[in-house]
Amino acid sequence: MIVKNMSFKVGQTLTVVGVAKPDATNFALNIGPDEQEITMHMNPRFNAHGDENVVVCNSYQQGQWCEEHREGGFPFRQGEEFKIVIAFTPTEFLVTLSDGSAIHFPNRIGAEKYSVISFDGDVRVNSFEIK
Ligand code: GAL
Repeated sequence: MIVKNMSFKVGQTLTVVGVAKPDATNFALNIGPDEQEITMHMNPRFNAHGDENVVVCNSYQQGQWCEEHREGGFPFRQGEEFKIVIAFTPTEFLVTLSDGSAIHFPNRIGAEKYSVISFDGDVRVNSFEIK
């Protein structure tokens, strides 16, 4: 799923509720300025890319993945509902997971507004809201 004309601005919070597929290996939520660049890729991995039960974050700039950032717990279960809350502060994306753990990911591209939000991989999105 991709939304190209979103407006996610500093000061706002994005809340996503979804369900990981029963046989999910991984899924990703991407926030970016366009379809070429990703300022925050958040990738819960059940079993993918050599990782088990970890959330990997990164940015994708100028055609390549940058430095990975691994933080927070792993409150995701295959076939079960999850909730992810992302506060867009002046300096970072502050992600709160359902176990109360947090991921502090810097706004590497540095824009104050992003218009593309996409979901990839083994997930169904039930709702998402920006407030
Ligand atoms: C790669 C993976 C990408 C992305 C990236 C994050 O190994 O293929 O989809 O998750 O890691 O650093």
